[in-house]
Amino acid sequence: MKVILAMVMSLDGKTTKWDEAGIYNWTSPEDREYFFSLREKNDVIIMGRKTFDAAKSVIKLSPRCLRIVMTRTPQKYSNIAVKEMLEFTDEPSSRLIEKLNKRGYSKVLVVGGEQVNFHFLKEKRIDEIWITIEPLLFGLGNSLVSPSRLNITMELKGVRKLNKKGTLLLKYRVIYNSF
Ligand SMILES: NC(=O)c1ccc[n+]([C@@H]2O[C@H](COP(=O)([O-])OP(=O)(O)OC[C@H]3O[C@@H](n4cnc5c(N)ncnc54)[C@H](OP(=O)(O)O)[C@@H]3O)[C@@H](O)[C@H]2O)c1
Repeated sequence: MKVILAMVMSLDGKTTKWDEAGIYNWTSPEDREYFFSLREKNDVIIMGRKTFDAAKSVIKLSPRCLRIVMTRTPQKYSNIAVKEMLEFTDEPSSRLIEKLNKRGYSKVLVVGGEQVNFHFLKEKRIDEIWITIEPLLFGLGNSLVSPSRLNITMELKGVRKLNKKGTLLLKYRVIYNSF
């Protein structure tokens, strides 16, 4: 089971523009095209409840891809949950990944936001981090992970320039260090 964390950020490491909820008004068309093709290649996409709230109007449910939303109150969403398409959970990432493995899923994409990313990295459940950097500076905004201690090293696997203005896609393998 391979777990990839995929996010887009500004050059100063912001994954939201200030306190705006949506991201599609500042990400490049090339990043969106790459991200949509990435979604097609994975059979599970995991996100935080706030990311789900920000993106739900554009999410198209499909039997080929299970969306999982992390929330501490999954029961609140039982009326919109659809088995094997849209599920809500409060299980820790390790148990969740184990269960997905047993259910036959093999390619998992974690797509934020910063709280959920932090939780998966803290539990050492992310194998690779794929980051798109847009040549923008926001000064304020969310980060890749919540502001709390981590100690993780990465090894660059590849770099791709996605467009003329210099949007970069960086792929890293995660190496977990002991504190
Ligand atoms: N640039 C990018 O690539 C990118 C990607 C994704 C999201 N975003 C942006 O990031 C923002 C949201 O990020 P965020 O960090 O504020 O929120 P988030 O991580 O998307 O969601 C946070 C929520 O997830 C649930 N949660 C977190 N940790 C959990 C755990 N261990 N167990 C169970 N549930 C857990 C909680 O939901 P409950 O409150 O329901 O309990 C928490 O309030 C949005 O504006 C979105 O557009 C950007």
